[in-house]
Amino acid sequence: MKVKENKILEISIMIVVFAAVFIFLSINSVTADQSEATYLGTDSCKGCHPTNYELWDETSHGIYFFDDSEWLYNDVLTDKYVRCGDSMLPCHTIGYNEIDKGGYDPAYAWDSNENAHLLGIGCENCHGPGSEHISGSDKKADINQIVDHYAGSCGGTDDAGCHGGTRQYGDEIVPGWEESAHANEAPEYAQRVDCMSCRSTEGFIADAEGDPLTEIPEEVTWTITCGACHDPHPEATNTNHYQLRLSEDEICEACHYSTSSLGSEDVHHPQVEMRAGNVGVDVEDTTYMVDVNCVECHHYNSPHGTNASEYKQGHSWVPQPEACVECHDGVIALPEYNITTALEDIEEQHENYANTYATVSPNIETMKTKKAYADDNKIWTKTGMNDTYYEALWNFGLATADGSNGTHNPDYAEALMLDANTKALEVIAAVDSTPIPEDDGTPGFEAVAFIVAIGIALILLRKRIKK
Ligand code: HEC
Ligand code: HEC
Ligand code: HEC
Ligand code: HEC
Ligand code: HEC
Ligand code: HEC
Repeated sequence: MKVKENKILEISIMIVVFAAVFIFLSINSVTADQSEATYLGTDSCKGCHPTNYELWDETSHGIYFFDDSEWLYNDVLTDKYVRCGDSMLPCHTIGYNEIDKGGYDPAYAWDSNENAHLLGIGCENCHGPGSEHISGSDKKADINQIVDHYAGSCGGTDDAGCHGGTRQYGDEIVPGWEESAHANEAPEYAQRVDCMSCRSTEGFIADAEGDPLTEIPEEVTWTITCGACHDPHPEATNTNHYQLRLSEDEICEACHYSTSSLGSEDVHHPQVEMRAGNVGVDVEDTTYMVDVNCVECHHYNSPHGTNASEYKQGHSWVPQPEACVECHDGVIALPEYNITTALEDIEEQHENYANTYATVSPNIETMKTKKAYADDNKIWTKTGMNDTYYEALWNFGLATADGSNGTHNPDYAEALMLDANTKALEVIAAVDSTPIPEDDGTPGFEAVAFIVAIGIALILLRKRIKK
């Protein structure tokens, strides 16, 4: 009896195991698996994707390794290929050290037959190994489509860390980006269709391509990832540096402009307006280095070879005094700066801004309180200050919501705040000098006029009825 029961149990277990193995195998043979694929090299993609190939060939990913054989390293002319013999290989080859998948094998020389087809930053660095895709029938399933717009993918594999910072100084772009506000998902704005263009990667790309989204797509990233600003497959007509979707003059301005206007209570991110210096009310137009674009001040990379602990990476977009020094060397632009003097100048601008802000800000607050008081007591229209009030808010909002503490246009910020101050004091005085009408119980002019009008109407009506 006992033996028989055990036998049944054994058979049942075996059936379950067989079924599980069968289901596992059948699932895997239906959806061909990219994890079984091997690397074939970029030439193997050329035949079926000629346009992608030609455009890739023009990008830095396509030409970087092959354009010329010599370059400067720490001001010394060296042979690129010799140097590539070591540290550069993980990021300049396909499938580095993934030998089981037919990737680049460090045991051989870089130009050996085994490795030659795997040189460069090829299609498979981003899309993964391609053999299953090329031989298989389901072209969509067997290749990495990279729909996440790749803040992660740009870092490369852990082994390579191409833009990811595990490599030497110079490649710390992903950590720089992670520090920046662009990597922050702001929950209060996420999921809002009206914020999608500047808060989501997909919304921005659609705008840049001239085909704005009207609803939130299924795959959406509420941060500004690498793929928002950079296009891995730029159009032939796109001649921007660094595969940018818009030129360096335009790319930051596409998001950092004011979405408010005169008459709004709040002003949001008016960096473009502050740099242009021409939208204040009753304030003279003022520019400050007007031809210098956002990137020129906000992006500074230390030169190659800087000590890793002192290395600065531009993708945090924190402005660095070194960026000022690059132009202000006494030849391109005056005043002439070194890092200390540039920093001193910026700090002085901050201080001037802070002083003016400290004087004006309380008056703006008082003005708002007075407006609320005048509204409550129904005397706001009598003050005649409605336009002045919104002009003060606009000028003050431009100078302060810009976030640069005046440095984007110091004299303009000062003039805007001082004008806002004058206007705020006018509003305060006007509210203070407008008496609140006393409610003494006798009917006012409107009531009398109303009663008279009804009287006349009744008389006319009676006359009609009599006829
Ligand atoms: C034999 C022809 C052929 C070769 C060779 C080939 N592809 Fe494709 N590939 C296709 C076709 C066809 C599609 C379109 C699938 C579709 O849109 O239905 C495609 C689509 C793709 C896609 C987009 C997938 C998607 O879901 O939109 C990527 C990425 C891709 N290929 C990468 C590569 C890479 C990388 C290589 C080289 C390793 C390569 N292809 C080689 C035929 C090929
Ligand atoms: C730096 C990373 C990178 C490299 C290198 C790269 N791609 Fe792509 N590719 C992408 C990303 C990301 C997408 C997703 C769509 C987009 O954002 O443009 C994509 C989309 C595609 C698509 C589908 C959409 C389209 O544009 O047709 C194909 C096909 C494709 N790549 C083929 C290739 C081929 C072939 C090569 C090499 C010649 C290549 N890719 C090199 C990142 C890359
Ligand atoms: C907000 C837009 C924006 C985002 C997001 C962004 N970049 Fe850039 N990137 C730029 C601009 C603009 C430049 C050109 C800088 C210059 O001209 O000095 C640039 C330059 C580069 C360069 C070449 C110069 C350098 O700094 O070494 C690389 C490589 C690069 N970006 C990679 C990335 C990667 C990887 C990510 C994601 C982690 C990323 N970028 C995210 C705008 C962006
Ligand atoms: C796709 C829209 C978009 C583009 C393009 C863009 N930004 Fe931004 N930027 C944002 C958003 C949104 C924030 C605010 C993120 C947050 O705080 O939640 C931001 C924040 C910033 C901040 C930090 C502000 C703070 O409050 O901490 C700086 C500095 C900045 N951006 C500079 C730049 C520069 C320089 C460029 C051009 C290379 C650029 N941005 C391009 C959308 C964009
Ligand atoms: C891309 C080059 C470039 C960069 C970067 C740059 N400047 Fe300038 N700057 C100029 C030029 C050109 C002028 C003179 C022409 C002008 O005013 O437009 C100038 C003018 C100035 C002036 C005199 C302006 C006036 O109106 O009297 C000051 C002060 C100044 N820069 C400070 C700075 C500081 C501080 C930084 C860094 C935050 C900086 N600059 C970054 C190119 C640059
Ligand atoms: C002349 C150099 C210069 C130019 C040009 C410039 N900025 Fe700035 N920006 C600065 C400086 C300096 C700060 C102040 C940083 C601080 O307060 O510590 C700043 C601050 C900012 C801030 C606020 C940062 C924060 O942490 O809150 C944003 C956002 C910003 N800039 C975006 C832009 C955009 C967008 C443009 C182009 C329309 C631009 N900047 C052009 C130098 C510049």
